[in-house]
Amino acid sequence: MKVIVVKNSNEIASEALKVMLETVKSNSKAVIGLATGSSPIGLYESMIADHVNSGTSYADIRTVNLDEYVGLDEKSEQSYIYFMNDNLFKSVNLNKNNINLPNGMNADMQVECDNYTALLNSMPQDIQLLGIGANGHIGFNEPGTSFDSTTHIVELEEGTRIDNARFFNSLDEVPKFAITMGIANIMNAKKILVVANGKNKAKAVFEMVKGQVSENCPASILQKHKDVVLVIDESAASLL
Ligand code: GLP
Repeated sequence: MKVIVVKNSNEIASEALKVMLETVKSNSKAVIGLATGSSPIGLYESMIADHVNSGTSYADIRTVNLDEYVGLDEKSEQSYIYFMNDNLFKSVNLNKNNINLPNGMNADMQVECDNYTALLNSMPQDIQLLGIGANGHIGFNEPGTSFDSTTHIVELEEGTRIDNARFFNSLDEVPKFAITMGIANIMNAKKILVVANGKNKAKAVFEMVKGQVSENCPASILQKHKDVVLVIDESAASLL
């Protein structure tokens, strides 16, 4: 695992941009795995600025997102499809047909899970971007998730719902279930880019980098991947 420690969120964005652009510029049809949450927002802003100022094209780039809340659609401001449209998709020249997220509104969520895994198998990620939850989750794979898991439905931990409640009017509005790529789907990516900032991520970052590889900390499996770049600020790195 390559660990890059920088001073602040702006520097995380610029270092992460370099890693993302290596993939995007070396393969115009690359499959890029994307993430939500506050951690990737700076990177998305940098990708947009680079697209506008330097003309990096996303015309044939294909995207797959990690996860989505069950029961929210793209009109809901808290859905991940809304987040992605708002923070990235509307501002770069991606083709709508090349954008893929799990659909949290499918009447048969098991079918949705199977279809999403089939899609991922047909177009493995050249790079997968990840944030990390304070409990070490990646995507919505909570502690205890099998390392062999593929796309599945998760019941969100109370702590995860509390962490994400800031995006909703109240905790009650935070969905209880989500659909997420499994850990095996994430590990199948050729390259993995993790971004994290802030003191509340320090313990999860420590467990991910130096802890025992254990399903108690989903992110610890990244120690077994051959090409992981972790870009974090000094607070998130404070226990390393
Ligand atoms: C959510 C997402 C994760 C993300 C995590 C951390 O739970 N499903 O993919 O990594 O939040 O979010 P933040 O970056 O806002 O701390």
